[in-house]
Amino acid sequence: MKITAIIGSPRKNGDCFKTIKMLENSFNRISETQVDYVFLKDLDLGFCKSCLLCYTKGEQYCPHNQVTGLLLDKMTDSDIVIFACPVYEQQVTALMKNFYDNFSFMFHRPRFFGKKAILLSSTGGSGLKETLSYMKMTAIGWGFDIAGVIGVCGSSLSTDEKYKMDVQSKIGKLVDKICKNKKEGQPSLYQLAMFRAMQCKAIKSAQKKNVEYNYWLERGWLDKNYYTSIEIGLAKQIYSEFLKHVMKKMMNGKNILIN
Ligand SMILES: Cc1cc2nc3c(=O)[nH]c(=O)nc-3n(C[C@H](O)[C@H](O)[C@H](O)COP(=O)(O)O)c2cc1C
Repeated sequence: MKITAIIGSPRKNGDCFKTIKMLENSFNRISETQVDYVFLKDLDLGFCKSCLLCYTKGEQYCPHNQVTGLLLDKMTDSDIVIFACPVYEQQVTALMKNFYDNFSFMFHRPRFFGKKAILLSSTGGSGLKETLSYMKMTAIGWGFDIAGVIGVCGSSLSTDEKYKMDVQSKIGKLVDKICKNKKEGQPSLYQLAMFRAMQCKAIKSAQKKNVEYNYWLERGWLDKNYYTSIEIGLAKQIYSEFLKHVMKKMMNGKNILIN
């Protein structure tokens, strides 16, 4: 099994790293697994320049393509990608946010269908929910199946042996579940909503005949119910049809929020 861990902590031997090691141990109990540890702090990934070339011409035109291209290859070549980031000010670190910003086009041109993501965060005590739900939204937006979500309290990990054993045991159970469950799951309501929102955007870009429109056209997604050919249950189909109409109204680019 090929696993890549993208790590948004500035600490190399920190709590996120230690928790990924627990995951690696658990995977190795089942089959030989090597995790490729990618520390964002070691990469020369600049801030997104907002040139929008990834949107208008293609990701290969990104001025940071030397790094983003490498990261994209690593994610593409993996069976599972672990996104790991500590909570900083109740959210992901700037390192991780910069990584997400550089791949923002992937919301519009998702590609990781059939690939699993594990989301992992470590905290001093608060912000796990906010941080992990942001990471979840991004992974779903890029097309990943969320195989697991792990949140730990960093200080207890290093001071409380019982807590550490509890985390290791829960991680072991999660890994067993991931390895047993090979089938593509039904898309959640959230995934369907995300699909409809992006489909609406792609249809709107038809006039521009841009990269996004062509990407959707080539994959036949412009008039589909979902990205993959998975059979969607009737109730979800009805919900999805309803969403199609709601999104058309919502995505008119004229929102104003003033309180
Ligand atoms: C700049 C900074 C901001 C942080 N913000 C929070 C926070 O908002 N809430 C919290 O509970 N812990 C916060 N922490 C603690 C880290 O989330 C915690 O120590 C985490 O386990 C570190 O993981 P790492 O070792 O993988 O970097 C912060 C730490 C730093 C250095």
